[in-house]
Amino acid sequence: MPEQMTKSALPSVQAEGHEVTPRLEIRNIRRFFEGRAVVDDVSLTVLPGQVTCLLGPSGCGKSTTLRMIAGVEMQDEGEIYVDGKLICDTLFRVPPERREIGLMFQDFALFPHLSVGDNVAFGLKGPKDQKRARAHELLDRVSLAQYIDDYPHQLSGGEQQRVALARALAPRPKIMLMDEPFSGLDNRLRDGIRDETLSVLKEEDTAVLLVTHEPEEAMRMADEIALMRDGRIVQQGAPYNVYTRPVDKAAVAFFSDVNTLPAQVNGALAETPFGQFLAPGVPDGTDVEIVFRPQHLRIDFDRNGRGPEATARDGVPARGIVQRARFLGNESLVEFRMDFDGSILKATVPNVFLPAEGRAMWLTVPRDRCFVFPR
Ligand SMILES: Nc1ncnc2c1ncn2[C@@H]1O[C@H](COP(=O)(O)OP(=O)(O)OP(=O)(O)O)[C@@H](O)[C@H]1O
Ligand SMILES: [Mg+2]
Repeated sequence: MPEQMTKSALPSVQAEGHEVTPRLEIRNIRRFFEGRAVVDDVSLTVLPGQVTCLLGPSGCGKSTTLRMIAGVEMQDEGEIYVDGKLICDTLFRVPPERREIGLMFQDFALFPHLSVGDNVAFGLKGPKDQKRARAHELLDRVSLAQYIDDYPHQLSGGEQQRVALARALAPRPKIMLMDEPFSGLDNRLRDGIRDETLSVLKEEDTAVLLVTHEPEEAMRMADEIALMRDGRIVQQGAPYNVYTRPVDKAAVAFFSDVNTLPAQVNGALAETPFGQFLAPGVPDGTDVEIVFRPQHLRIDFDRNGRGPEATARDGVPARGIVQRARFLGNESLVEFRMDFDGSILKATVPNVFLPAEGRAMWLTVPRDRCFVFPR
């Protein structure tokens, strides 16, 4: 056994009261292109039957990370473990075909000259009838068993996508790597296929690392989100935690529009036209930004030139003039020009709320919904 294998004694992690060894663990992975770290010290784990989403903007290093795990790209630093066993570091590597990792990409290309059943059975070994039985089982799982003897061109795009999923799952991979697999599908198809894919992967207890740049997709699919930027993971956690406890303004802005109020800290308080915000531990004189999402701005009507009373929870109201109001289907978006400095703040309101342009209204910022970050 190569010496590197001795690194396999990994601490297992606690999950729902059980000790579980991660199905996939990558540690301190780095990859340089032309002297630039495109993937920079990335570490993450995925448990069996769990979906981790690698979420980040274009060019941040998501696909490169996936390619290193698949073994088609080699990292310059770091280690990859499957079920606690080292499969790759900078000296020792298990070749891609022996990693028991399934791949599903956006351009999944089925073999046009092979039947649907033969496409699914393509990576399988063993007697013909066994391979066909496994292909049938998987096609049944994605509700396409009746097409086993048809050819890919006879299927719709969404059906072909499900065949590709069945093909990737047929050899029972321990890990499934998915790189924007749903982005080629139209919106209505996508939701259904996403949910179906997820339930098949969970049934098979596969660990999934899903790459996407769409926050809604990550929120919908992930047990855990790893937010990536410029080659690094900037935040990692359950979707709810990443959304409600963002590490910086960019992390807020990745999931929704944001409103920003500039302020300076004095005595651990940031003074704004909406009143004071707590800034514990921030030194005096620090420039900060108070950041909050449009759905958290509170709107009140003007009553004889006055707004609602100031409260500890919502602070002081500030007046704004409606610039624009648009109905977006599930919600309405209203933009206000603020009296205090002429800046624009955005509010979203459920359902229909379309105040007239030019109307004066009073806005407040609930303190438990905003974040204070250094500027
Ligand atoms: N073989 C290569 N040689 C040089 N640079 C590369 C190579 N592969 C990727 N890069 C660069 O590495 C960076 C990360 O690329 P990567 O494909 O991992 O991004 P991504 O997060 O998947 O983006 P997208 O969402 O657009 O697919 C990019 O700046 C890209 O140009
Ligand atoms: Mg990519």
